[in-house]
Amino acid sequence: MSKHVLGILCSGRGSNMQSILAAVESGEIKAKVGIVLTDKPEARALILARENGIKAVCINRKECTDQQEFEEKLVTELRAAGVTLVVLAGFMRILSPYFVGEYRHQILNIHPSLLPSFGGAHAHRDVLAYGTKVSGCTIHFVDEGMDHGPIILQDTVPVMDDDTEETLAARVLKKEHVLYPRAIQLYVDGKLEILDDRHVRIKQ
Ligand code: GRF
Repeated sequence: MSKHVLGILCSGRGSNMQSILAAVESGEIKAKVGIVLTDKPEARALILARENGIKAVCINRKECTDQQEFEEKLVTELRAAGVTLVVLAGFMRILSPYFVGEYRHQILNIHPSLLPSFGGAHAHRDVLAYGTKVSGCTIHFVDEGMDHGPIILQDTVPVMDDDTEETLAARVLKKEHVLYPRAIQLYVDGKLEILDDRHVRIKQ
């Protein structure tokens, strides 16, 4: 077993978190999940994590005086759990340079579009409005920019003429659930080499 400990940050449904927990359980990801953190008390991810025997804590952003206090509390929990890789899985908050600096090159994010196109909170809506024929998902390291850090893996899906946000999101989500565990295991295996602020090489 590797020495890696994952800390998963979620805001809502938690389906990516579930796929990661399943991949840990099956041995596809050779690490343990140390903690799940949410910024909202109603996040379904909290219940799901606890059902799986994982420590899950809500740091309610609304009860913090500012972003710095919120992020310091996140860091305190992550450090106490011995986290070596922070996994953003539907975490709907932008992290400040302070947090990114605490975990430089140790934070992954998933975004439901082919970055750099369609960053932001409404990727599927924006894809449909623009009329692209292909969409997909992206796993990347997190840096100080939004949906910006160096890309690790991407996968594509077709966009259909009769797609709605919901049908497109569902097609992309199936790919997300496969791609995120793969990227995490590549990290855990020491196979991700960050060449510069844009390029990641996957070692064979
Ligand atoms: C996913 O589409 C992910 O790419 C995006 O937010 C959504 C979270 O879904 N960042 P879930 O909470 O993992 O089900």
